[in-house]
Amino acid sequence: MFVFMLVPGKLLLEHALANHYAVGAFNANNMEQVQAIMDAAAETQSPVFIQVSRGALKYSRMIYLRNIIQAAAEEHPEIPLVMHLDHGNSLETVKQAIALGFTSVMIDGSLDETGKIPLSFVDNIKVTKAVLDYARPLGVSVEAELGTLGGIEDGVGSGQVHVTDPAQVVEFIKQVPVDSLAIAIGTSHGAFKFKEKCTLALDVLKDIHQKVPNLPLVMHGSSSVPAELVAQVNKYGGKMPNARGVDIEQLKQTPQYGVTKINVDTDGRIAITAAIRKFLVEHPEKFDPREYMTPARDALKEVVKARMIAFGAAGQAKYLTPNPSPK
Ligand code: G3H
Ligand code: 13P
Ligand code: ZN
Repeated sequence: MFVFMLVPGKLLLEHALANHYAVGAFNANNMEQVQAIMDAAAETQSPVFIQVSRGALKYSRMIYLRNIIQAAAEEHPEIPLVMHLDHGNSLETVKQAIALGFTSVMIDGSLDETGKIPLSFVDNIKVTKAVLDYARPLGVSVEAELGTLGGIEDGVGSGQVHVTDPAQVVEFIKQVPVDSLAIAIGTSHGAFKFKEKCTLALDVLKDIHQKVPNLPLVMHGSSSVPAELVAQVNKYGGKMPNARGVDIEQLKQTPQYGVTKINVDTDGRIAITAAIRKFLVEHPEKFDPREYMTPARDALKEVVKARMIAFGAAGQAKYLTPNPSPK
């Protein structure tokens, strides 16, 4: 059997850093999400990360999602695709992901294993080092995190915000030279990011980039929470008052300061939910899941395409090593 190649994250991030764009990293839990993300990548010719959280591994019973992502690589061998563990909480989780064939892992040492309590700088370095020592010889890329995001989304996030300290980044990278680093500059996970308007600490980002210009940076919690999708959810029976996301114009400024990977999950969740709610309200007689999953998949694809274009990743696929053709 020909195994289609998933590429290491490092390959994409170094290209993005050199060319001042960011690769979109989209969370998936099921077949329709993987298909939508891959269709968006193919239609815009973008490199892409499909990322899988611990919750997604559990929900999909691991091998199902791994094999679906493998199928995406088989369907689109021309698209550089990374299978990435999102918010790994321990060396054990990382080992499990690598055994499954993940080509990139995140160890989130900003928080403890429960994902609720911030870890000290020293403990963050300790767990990150253990992961780096394990993953690097196997050719798997490693993303670490320094600083803590706000927001609590299904167990990810302490609810406290600690903007990343640029001086600590220098020390951290000296001790654990990871392939990429997630930083906290005011974003948070979920659909309720800001009480009023979005303000990212772009001055902190600039400072970090100046201190470590060769380090690919990562932004989590970067959904924009489109008002029209939230309105659609609310119109068809949902309840998401005061949902607010990251201003896309501010987000678009970040690749020039070293941001090479931008994580988006919530926008896709809202797009899917809005489409399903609308369909079911408009067609109360229908009960075939394929009929409502089709507009849901299309809605996710449109959101992902828009993000790939906004992050500057569209058209970049051809500059990265393609998959060899099957024999
Ligand atoms: O950063 C967290 C992602 O949105 C994944 O969320 O743990 O509910 O799958 P999850
Ligand atoms: P959002 O909740 O803003 O989509 O962030 C997703 C994320 O950071 C996944 O790691
Ligand atoms: Zn995240």
